[in-house]
Formats: sequence, C-alpha cells, structure tokens
Amino acid sequence: MTSEEVETPEEDGLELDGPRLRAVPATGKHAAQIQACFEGAPDYFARTEGKPVGADAAIQLLADAEVDDHRKVFVLVPRVGGAVGVLDLHLDYPEPRTAQIGLLLFREACQGLGYGKETTAAIEASLARAGYRALRLSVVDENTAAKMFWERLGFAIVGRLDRGVTVYEKILP
Ligand SMILES: CC(C)(COP(=O)(O)OP(=O)(O)OC[C@H]1O[C@@H](n2cnc3c(N)ncnc32)[C@H](O)[C@@H]1OP(=O)(O)O)[C@@H](O)C(=O)NCCC(=O)NCCS
Repeated sequence: MTSEEVETPEEDGLELDGPRLRAVPATGKHAAQIQACFEGAPDYFARTEGKPVGADAAIQLLADAEVDDHRKVFVLVPRVGGAVGVLDLHLDYPEPRTAQIGLLLFREACQGLGYGKETTAAIEASLARAGYRALRLSVVDENTAAKMFWERLGFAIVGRLDRGVTVYEKILP
C-alpha cells in the first residue's frame, strides 16, 4: 500500500460502496486526503464561501463529526489510488428516518465521471435498507451546477432557507 492509498477501517454499519468507489469511514488518518480533495475542488469553495478552503478544513470536519453520533464522514476511494471525494452524511437529521447530505464533493479532475451518481445511488439504497424515509440536502444559489446535478438525480425542491439556500429531498423507496 502506498501512502496515497486508503486503508479500510472497521465497519460502521452503513454499506455505501458503489461499483467503482469504496466509501471508507473517515478517521483522523484520512485528514490529509480529505484536505487534498477540498483543495482539488477550488471552484466549490470560491462559489460557496467566496474564498479558498481553509488549511484546517478537513481536521475541523473530522472534529465536528467526532462529537456527533449522527454524523458520518466517508472518503470515496477508487480501487487504486487515494481518495477522489468526500461524503459528510447526517443520519436522522433534521428528523428521525431522514438523512441529510452535508457535503458530497469530488476533486474537480474527478467530476463529471458518474461518481456522484454512483455514490448517491449507493447512499439511497443503503438508507432505504436501513428503513430511512427520505434523503435531503441544501444547496446555495451560487452553486448552480450542484442544483442541476441533484435535479437530474430526481431530487425535488421542498423548501427555501434564508441567505439563498434551496432544500432538496428525495423520498426513498
Ligand atoms: C456535484 C457533484 C457531487 C456531482 O458529481 P459528479 O460525479 O460530477 O456528477 P456525475 O458525473 O455523477 O453526474 C450525474 C448526472 O448529473 C448530470 N450533471 C452533473 N452536473 C451537471 C450540471 N452542472 N448540469 C447539468 N447536469 C449535470 C450529469 O450529466 C449526469 O447525467 P446523466 O445521468 O445523464 O449521466 C460534483 O460535481 C462535485 O463534487 N461538485 C463540487 C462540490 C459540490 O458542489 N457538491 C454538491 C453540494 S453538497
């Protein structure tokens, strides 16, 4: 295993592997790979935060998830090589049997390859098996590409929040 490759830690309950990507529950060991994914997606941070990602963003994400039993962070890893993406998933949020995608992000070099679709399908299938009713997420108005993506995947607008945020939801089978 090279330093770029990702070791699979213990099973955490949700099986989110897709045909091409494994979803590996993230630990502190993955901070550098998560940070590299963030820094590989500068357009997302420019659009949503108006500035480059902070140097400690990955460590902060992992620290926040660490103290929240309902929050699961995964690194998304192809068969060979290091992480190409990150998933931040909130279970039973904002209500029981609803899950919310806090962030699904791929390095720009790995966008448009079907990884988002594959990962979302795996999330939906796994949540449905676990008895979840719905999958939800929020997108800021500046992130028009993400809105097109979620709408393409069948998510419907269910609300608007302050500061130009649209809430999307998909009812699970
Ligand atoms: C948004 C994101 C997760 C989508 O993942 P992706 O791997 O690039 O998207 P996919 O290649 O799986 O696209 C799936 C489908 O959506 C469509 N799609 C994706 N982006 C689109 C866009 N900007 N406009 C129109 N359609 C789009 C694709 O054409 C594809 O359609 P198909 O089913 O006909 O093949 C990814 O681009 C990303 O990481 N963006 C930066 C972070 C971000 O904005 N995350 C979302 C906020 S939570």
